[in-house]
Amino acid sequence: MNHSELIRARRSVRTFDGRSIEPDILQNILEYAQIADNPYDIPIEWKLLGTKADGVSSPVIVGTDTFIAGKMKRLPHSEEAFGYSFEKVVLYAQSLGIGTTWIAGTMNRSVVEKAMRLAEDEVLPCISPLGYKADKMSVRETMMRAGIKADTRLGFSEMFFDGSFDKPLSPDNAGELKQPLELVRLSPSAVNKQPCRVVVDGRCVHFYEKQSKGYVVNGWDTQKIDMGIAMCHFVCGLDELQKKAGLTISDPGIACPKDTVYTATFRTEQG
Ligand SMILES: Cc1cc2nc3c(=O)[nH]c(=O)nc-3n(C[C@H](O)[C@H](O)[C@H](O)COP(=O)(O)O)c2cc1C
Repeated sequence: MNHSELIRARRSVRTFDGRSIEPDILQNILEYAQIADNPYDIPIEWKLLGTKADGVSSPVIVGTDTFIAGKMKRLPHSEEAFGYSFEKVVLYAQSLGIGTTWIAGTMNRSVVEKAMRLAEDEVLPCISPLGYKADKMSVRETMMRAGIKADTRLGFSEMFFDGSFDKPLSPDNAGELKQPLELVRLSPSAVNKQPCRVVVDGRCVHFYEKQSKGYVVNGWDTQKIDMGIAMCHFVCGLDELQKKAGLTISDPGIACPKDTVYTATFRTEQG
């Protein structure tokens, strides 16, 4: 499967069918995670954790006792870097038929952090269960999805702009960026808040974060993880066009709407 098929097919899986994942598949996922890079070059240390072995659990997850977790040094841009690399792992698991859910909140965090031997200067942003999707969702999962409208996304022209925030970009005017931006639109995000906004200015594609209240705690911004996921999807879309883009962090000074802050710029190659 190519990236756009994987991105379109993925959804959070919270109800698993109880089957154990074969050890070689788990090993493949772990090895893939260990080489899943990010444009910030911030390394992440990965571990597979279990409910029996490590006590890890989540009140929203049923039918699997296997989880993957990543920790890293707490540095500027750790959030975006984690979002980018972890989403690669999510999509890789999806390609193997393994379901996942990004989990930043609903876990027994102190147990997970102990199992990961988290040091003072490290952070453990998220974990995910790994398992085979059950045929039917639990009542709790169905209610959760309805509560956060998990099956919906903002429209293309609500998220993407042509040169400035007062000029919405339509898919028909997005040229070759139509598909990469569509993959950005489909990104998962915490509580499905979808903070990513993009201003396309020639070859420069500027990413912005529309901040919701309550996501920055002790200087750590969970919505920047969402931004990393969105940037990962953008690069997946460019890859399919066999195009490359370099990441720079240089605010172009475009006037921003309220609560909207600059994140990073991709400069796409010519032609
Ligand atoms: C950074 C991040 C944190 C998340 N944390 C949780 C969580 O703690 N518990 C949970 O059940 N889902 C969590 N989610 C999953 C989102 O609710 C889900 O991705 C979103 O509602 C869209 O649904 P979908 O993934 O099925 O497309 C998180 C997602 C992201 C990206």
